[in-house]
Amino acid sequence: MSSVRIAPSVLPADFARLGEICRDLEKAGVDRIHWDVMDGRFVPNLTIGPDVVASCRGWVDVAFEAHLMVDEPSPELLGRFVDAGCGIVMVHAEACRHLHRSLGAVAEAGATPAVVLNPATPPSAVAHVLDLVGLVLVMTVNPGFGGQRYLASMEPKVAEVRALIDASGRDIDLEVDGGIGPATAAAAVAAGADVLVAGSALFNDPDGFESAVERLRAAASSTPRTPASAS
Ligand code: DX5
Ligand code: ZN
Repeated sequence: MSSVRIAPSVLPADFARLGEICRDLEKAGVDRIHWDVMDGRFVPNLTIGPDVVASCRGWVDVAFEAHLMVDEPSPELLGRFVDAGCGIVMVHAEACRHLHRSLGAVAEAGATPAVVLNPATPPSAVAHVLDLVGLVLVMTVNPGFGGQRYLASMEPKVAEVRALIDASGRDIDLEVDGGIGPATAAAAVAAGADVLVAGSALFNDPDGFESAVERLRAAASSTPRTPASAS
């Protein structure tokens, strides 16, 4: 099993210092940076657009992923996040009436398509698009804000998605997002996650990003993953 990867959400960041913060996160050894894009419709919060992401692209080499909490993202908007430097663009199954088409538009624009599942959405929602994605993101909070409590009730769902991915024989990342920190990472990885999004766990750590990333990696690898087939 490839080692667990860390994708910090910059939602808690001081948006006046995003470039420097991306640089500090890269120095701390994160695997990619997670941009939480919220439109105030799909979720009750409004954050950043592609121009903000683009303004940080030149500060670092580390990969960018855009988590679009956006209602019916147009092919034009998807393309703008790819042009801004996002190698992965994530759309919510619940926000795309024609999800298959939206994922195709991300691939068309030259990025890796990813599909996101809200807590109440079953894994079956991605069963017929696994051939289109490089990543499935399982939300472990209801989207819209950072600093929420991790929903352990999502672990059986993570295991179900893991089983779907393993059965597909495809190289697809399973990422979890929301309330991930040293106290919750091991259970999420044991359930089948291999990429962890963390916002407050990194930004609230008094010892800084370096030790927060180390702590999270250590916690994540503290229990072996129980393959779904073993359960
Ligand atoms: C919530 C976002 C998450 C969130 C993670 O809608 O998608 O990425 O910012 O923040 P924490 O790790 O603090 O839950
Ligand atoms: Zn997110």
